[in-house]
Amino acid sequence: MSGNNIMIKSTGAYLPVKILTNKDLEKIVDTSDEWITTRTGIKTRRVAADHEATSDMAYEAAKIALKRANMDPQEVELIIVATITPDMFFPSTGCFVQDRLGAKNAVAMDVNAACSGYIYSLVIACKFLGTGSYKNAVIIGAEKLTSITNWEDRNTCVLFGDGAGASVLIPSNGESKLLAFDLGTDGSYGEELFMPGGGSRNPASIETVENKLHSIRMNGNTIFKVAVNKMKKTFTNSMGNAGITTEDISILIPHQANLRIIESLRKSLHLPKEKVHVNIDKYGNTSAASIAIGLNEVYEEGLIKRGDIIGFVAFGGGLTWGSAIIQY
Ligand code: ACO
Repeated sequence: MSGNNIMIKSTGAYLPVKILTNKDLEKIVDTSDEWITTRTGIKTRRVAADHEATSDMAYEAAKIALKRANMDPQEVELIIVATITPDMFFPSTGCFVQDRLGAKNAVAMDVNAACSGYIYSLVIACKFLGTGSYKNAVIIGAEKLTSITNWEDRNTCVLFGDGAGASVLIPSNGESKLLAFDLGTDGSYGEELFMPGGGSRNPASIETVENKLHSIRMNGNTIFKVAVNKMKKTFTNSMGNAGITTEDISILIPHQANLRIIESLRKSLHLPKEKVHVNIDKYGNTSAASIAIGLNEVYEEGLIKRGDIIGFVAFGGGLTWGSAIIQY
């Protein structure tokens, strides 16, 4: 079996019921629906309930994906949860999901690559499956970003939302495959987009809470410029590695951080609007969950069929970026 003969057998997603609109945000910070819509493309985002942790959303998404794959949780061999909002530092969110699913025979772990987390997890899982180490994997992007949002900072609080998406991966007979991928990291931008408090650098204290170190800090302008460049470059690299052009792409599912970033990427790749999936208006930026949710959405809307060439591209905190091209 070729190392890349992997099929995304099924998908699932979970979005919390509570909807927070731009109008709602106008009551919390000095902002406007008009500013948020024109600068980001976001109209609403979902907010998890107080009792809902990241693993709860991840579990719901994985349960749907496993049902659609007709797989018993006990058959699962590998669980990877991509998240920057784990339930707690340890154990990993993957461990909680494994327990909730009853996936007693699975190895579970988390991947922290911010918004690139789903693509990093896809590649990691494909490599495990490709070498025959495991026969299947459930990869999940899940975030409760509203739990690390500073609701007094209008620069960031309007951007983020909660949700989860899951995919079941199995080896294929060669018709479905990971055609190519490209991953990258530049840690020198680490403090352009980060949460400074709570770790070993700044352990939780009254001061870290008072100084709001336990929430997202972002230099939006810098991130914006790097994002546009890196997303275009990584996706072009993946197309080169796959030996395809944009003409061959059935649909591109980009990370949903800002509609202007997505549009800039779309135009530079000369892709028509109908070939680029956008749901940022509904969910905002759900970091590691966004591509997983998007993939489930295009499946549920009947926009993809077996054999289609699907592109994924993301960038996020780290900075990290990555792209993957699959034959579905
Ligand atoms: N409402 C009203 N005004 C606002 C708001 C708001 N919510 N937020 C910022 N502004 C103001 C600023 O204060 C500034 O005012 P000033 O000119 O008086 O100083 C003005 O709007 C323009 O601010 P900019 O930062 O230049 O606005 P920009 O057009 O760059 O948009 C944004 C900001 C949306 C954050 C954009 O830079 C962006 O999307 N950056 C990338 C974000 C991203 O993709 N993050 C990565 C993923 S997240 C992750 O990995 C967890």
